[in-house]
Amino acid sequence: MSANIIAIDGPAASGKGTLARKLAESLGFGYLDTGALYRLVGYTILERGGDPANTDEAIEVAEFCRDFFDVNLLQNKELRSDESGQAASKVAVVPKVREALLDLQRNFAKAPGGKAKGAILDGRDIGTVICPDAPVKLYITARDEVRAARRTKELQSRGLDVTKASVLKDMRERDARDAARDTAPMKPADDAIVIDSSDLSPAEMFDKALEIIKERLSV
Ligand code: DC
Repeated sequence: MSANIIAIDGPAASGKGTLARKLAESLGFGYLDTGALYRLVGYTILERGGDPANTDEAIEVAEFCRDFFDVNLLQNKELRSDESGQAASKVAVVPKVREALLDLQRNFAKAPGGKAKGAILDGRDIGTVICPDAPVKLYITARDEVRAARRTKELQSRGLDVTKASVLKDMRERDARDAARDTAPMKPADDAIVIDSSDLSPAEMFDKALEIIKERLSV
């Protein structure tokens, strides 16, 4: 049982994933990218030639992913595409999809496995729904333009032919859907510390987060 839980939420391309990964490595904590779970569901539907906006299909595939879950599936590079991200955001509005993925996330938070000294989870509803008692809750955000520029650079570095304008449009659409849904919408928990990463380097973000963590956890 791990009480050392760090919840990191925030919108797309806010820098939360990079931060969570670096913190986990440096603290010896286990890390779960919960967005990858929703991406796995969305991607699997696209692979089957289905429609991520079809509620019944989304539930069926989410339950399938839960029943046959293997952490290695989250390493699939295809999950990182914008198509998988949009599909993830569509399946994520369905309450039964979220329910299917709930235990996986909570079990990881309680027992991140191996010699992990704690757990870091990043997503949209970690501080509000998945781990409401987490002693550390961070909400990482950044200006839209900055986030779009970062995501464009990342996609282009992987050889994808995208423009910043199209990335910005997709990102805004996804953020609006994630924030407006009825179940577990993206928002900072009341007791979350909000960090705007727009004008911070990854190293500055890391230092700031670590300072907060050290005040709350004995790490
Ligand atoms: O963090 P990400 O961009 O990989 O997430 C992809 C989508 O998954 C996101 O647009 C909404 C959904 N998601 C969610 O609803 N709840 C989470 N805890 C994580 C992701």
